[in-house]
Amino acid sequence: MPKYVPEPFRIKVIEPIQLIPRQERIKVVQEAKFNVFNIRSENIYIDLMTDSGTSAMSNAQWAAMMLGDEAYAGARSYFRLKEVMDDVFGFKYFVPTHQGRAAENILSKIMIKPGQFIPSNMHFDTTEGNIRAQGGIPVNLVIAEAYIPSKSVDFKGNMNIDKLRNFITEKGVENIPLGLLTITNNAGGGQPVSLENIKQVSDTYKEFGIPFFLDACRFAENAYFIKLREPGYENMSILEISRKIFALSDGATMSAKKDGIVNIGGFLAMNDESLFKKVKNELIIREGFPTYGGLAGRDLDAMAVGFREVLEESYLEYRIGQTNYLGESLREIGIPIIEPPGAHAIYIDAKSLLPHIPQNEFPAQSLTIALYIEGGIRGVEIGTSAFGYVDTETGKEVMPELDLVRLAIPRRVYTQSHIDYIVEVFKKVKENPQALSGYRMTYQAPLMRHFTAEFEPV
Ligand SMILES: Cc1ncc(COP(=O)(O)O)c(C=O)c1O
Repeated sequence: MPKYVPEPFRIKVIEPIQLIPRQERIKVVQEAKFNVFNIRSENIYIDLMTDSGTSAMSNAQWAAMMLGDEAYAGARSYFRLKEVMDDVFGFKYFVPTHQGRAAENILSKIMIKPGQFIPSNMHFDTTEGNIRAQGGIPVNLVIAEAYIPSKSVDFKGNMNIDKLRNFITEKGVENIPLGLLTITNNAGGGQPVSLENIKQVSDTYKEFGIPFFLDACRFAENAYFIKLREPGYENMSILEISRKIFALSDGATMSAKKDGIVNIGGFLAMNDESLFKKVKNELIIREGFPTYGGLAGRDLDAMAVGFREVLEESYLEYRIGQTNYLGESLREIGIPIIEPPGAHAIYIDAKSLLPHIPQNEFPAQSLTIALYIEGGIRGVEIGTSAFGYVDTETGKEVMPELDLVRLAIPRRVYTQSHIDYIVEVFKKVKENPQALSGYRMTYQAPLMRHFTAEFEPV
């Protein structure tokens, strides 16, 4: 039996959820055109679509919201957030943004010209979308093991440094306006990056004079894995490790909806003053004045408290423990997951669970639908629908190597019995996987198609 780390909190406010009858679930999913993004939340029992913005805030965060200063400029809330930003992240400048992709949008607009390349370990879909929207080309240079779901590696989110060097040399520094690194690597299983690797990435970008930005959505979870797994850091606090990480970069984009433990918020931070000036101008056009950046003052206060709470080790032990419990329980009943379990989510290897469904018939989409019909669980396809696309020159579907269903776990929301229920639903699906059919995509948008795609069973 895997171990469940008890919650370091107790429940004070509850939100009712219900499991609607199976016949209704079938009707709901048909009406949703077999895309779980189209299902109303009231028809979901356990919602594992994302850990982003879905977390439960603490009493301290709610209390801080009452102190929110809603002044348009120079609000106290901004300065309370700035104090935490300076202490934890240590960048010279930052602007709040309403979420991560707003920061990505501004950074991409300022830095990327059409035809330029942006390397990373692996880009998340919004990052990829924002780069492509500027005519840029996102490139994934994660280590090869990241593409072998069953292989357990401590830091499976690491960048392949040789590949990075060769890539820069081949394409030319002038064609690479910035380099990124995603911590943890969401698109590749929520896998962490070691401090040693972050340092090597940083050194490489520095050597070539390429600005280095972190996509830091889950920095505290990444730092906790460093403490657990990387020799030399076992006695350091999460705050100290986090500071070391950020000191190696020139800036960061952040969706605080993850490791800020808030329902909305983010930031774009940097050390370069001239970049900061451009960012402020873009921010004013798109998000708002630089001391609120598209958020209410109270949101800034909730973020400031969240950035402290996320560094608490009792919280991180429970957080990583809960995800690990789900991963180990699924493994025990023979469900192929990306190994080892990540920090914020468990990823099911759908190609391996459903080998009878060809990849161009979306096996992960099929499993996502089955989980909803069997148990009212909403996971998300993060494979052929999310990362595949139609090549405009050949008209052919380009498919990613991995075809996954992601079960993302909201922070401080579900209990052990919910997790046990999820495992029971998987047991039912596992009894007869052959009963699952493939799907055909009947509608797709040109960018980020999975959000609005429509399907029908083959
Ligand atoms: C790694 C990563 N980067 C960027 C984003 C975008 O953040 P947001 O949803 O707040 O725009 C996400 C969100 O899921 C993410 O996981």
